Amino acid sequence: MSTTTSDTWIKVLEEDELKENSRKVVTHGQHQILLINHKGTLFAVNNQCPHLGFPLKTGYIDGDNCIHCPFHRSAFSLESGDVADWAPWPPGLGIMLGKLSKEEALEIYGVRIRDGGVEVNLAGPPKVEADPNATKILIPPEETTS
Ligand code: FES
Repeated sequence: MSTTTSDTWIKVLEEDELKENSRKVVTHGQHQILLINHKGTLFAVNNQCPHLGFPLKTGYIDGDNCIHCPFHRSAFSLESGDVADWAPWPPGLGIMLGKLSKEEALEIYGVRIRDGGVEVNLAGPPKVEADPNATKILIPPEETTS
């Protein structure tokens, strides 16, 4: 497999500014990008929680790489942005708060290290393409009937 490259990568930090187990928020245009180096793996996501827009920067990260919003504890996969939990806190009241906005995935971005810099791709993570050298499946021509 290979990954696509795009010219929409933007350098946002020097590599040594995002040490292991650290986080940084950078602003690019309208985007507040939360960069996370979690145990050596890099993630880039929207810093604004999809629930009510509060910052995710100090959110707890669990063993499944889900970040938990520090406000109403919605949880989102750092890998896919999928919702793992929606506004469960505080008990009882959280259910009402959760209905204030429609359940929505966290926006995630591509992130990579290049030439000593941390780069993000606001179009999303690199897409996986089929390996062009892989065996092709040939579809036999239709049989002709006489
Ligand atoms: S603002 Fe994040 S869960 Fe409510």
